[in-house]
Amino acid sequence: MSEPVQTPLTKTATFPTRIFSGIQPSGGLTLGNYLGALKRFVEKQDEGIETVYCLVDMHAITVFQDPVKLRHQTREAAAGFIAAGIDPTRSILFNQSQVTAHAELGWIFNCIARMGWMSRMTQFKDKAGKNSENVSLGLFAYPSLMAADILAYKATHVPVGEDQKQHLELCRDIAIKFNNDYKVDFFPVVEPVIEGAATRVMSLRDGTAKMSKSDPSDQSRINLTDDADTISKKIRKAKTDMDPLPDHIDGLKDRPEAKNLVNIYAALAGHTPAQVIADYAGAQFGTFKPALADLAVAKLEPITTEMNRLMKDPAEIDRILGAGAVRADALARPVLEQVYDIIGMIRSRPV
Ligand code: TYM
Repeated sequence: MSEPVQTPLTKTATFPTRIFSGIQPSGGLTLGNYLGALKRFVEKQDEGIETVYCLVDMHAITVFQDPVKLRHQTREAAAGFIAAGIDPTRSILFNQSQVTAHAELGWIFNCIARMGWMSRMTQFKDKAGKNSENVSLGLFAYPSLMAADILAYKATHVPVGEDQKQHLELCRDIAIKFNNDYKVDFFPVVEPVIEGAATRVMSLRDGTAKMSKSDPSDQSRINLTDDADTISKKIRKAKTDMDPLPDHIDGLKDRPEAKNLVNIYAALAGHTPAQVIADYAGAQFGTFKPALADLAVAKLEPITTEMNRLMKDPAEIDRILGAGAVRADALARPVLEQVYDIIGMIRSRPV
């Protein structure tokens, strides 16, 4: 069981520490996104590290998105970031399509990454299923655009949930191959930052499946837009086994649903799972679930309320994203111009 220890970030010799991460606005934000990513994005910002956060709308369209919903979900995700504690004056917050360096560098990385690397991506295999002939080319190239997101800023550290680990390994491979092919020490080899008690929040209906915005069952997840009553009901109805909580963390082995609820409690409370077990050793779910529901409501309701308030002024959200995009562009454009130079493209347009 991973403990929520905050390890100091290792500084790479030649690259200053910069954090980049992204979330797809392909549905509402879930408790998995919040605990695995967003809450930790806020922690990194508050530690005073330079942080760049992106709503990856170009990744979202690798699977068809209704345009009206996509626009709404992008604003809602931005509202979620701000409500959770991202300060758009301290962090850079923007949506990917407003900074064209991502797509441009993504193309260059399509020419660096190898077909074999992409074919091994488990997320692609999961999403494509038996239908791999019929999914978009963009879905196959997805991790290459993701590498461009990160490396356009020469970001050194990327906080993510467990499920993104393989994509970040590919980002490292792309950086290394680019540096080797062109005999430069240009891109940093990024460090994934996967830490905390909830790096993989599981479905409330099945402790072996990841909590996901694309799960057809709404009961499987908590959405950041759920009201207090809905959150409470979903937790009380969450699937569990019949046994009380163990008196030692090892007792959660082979009890995926119990382990998931303990991890969620720990992440929300800012404790380790071992501390939660120490507090609730021997407790029945009839006791533990209401305590977890109360904690989840106490932590999430203020975020939902603030999100709803922010969503009343979509023009202000668009203004924040636009201002963030200008700042992001100012960082990414010079990196991209250097890349064009390294790879031998003529850049002679009068300015
Ligand atoms: P996405 O949109 O699926 O998820 C956003 C972030 O939330 C984390 N996450 C979870 N963490 C714990 N438990 C869960 N059940 C759970 N579900 C989601 C994800 O690990 C992720 O950190 N490919 C990325 C988006 C992306 C990106 C990037 C991330 C595009 N470019 C560059 C980092 C850097 C994705 O689909 O995340």
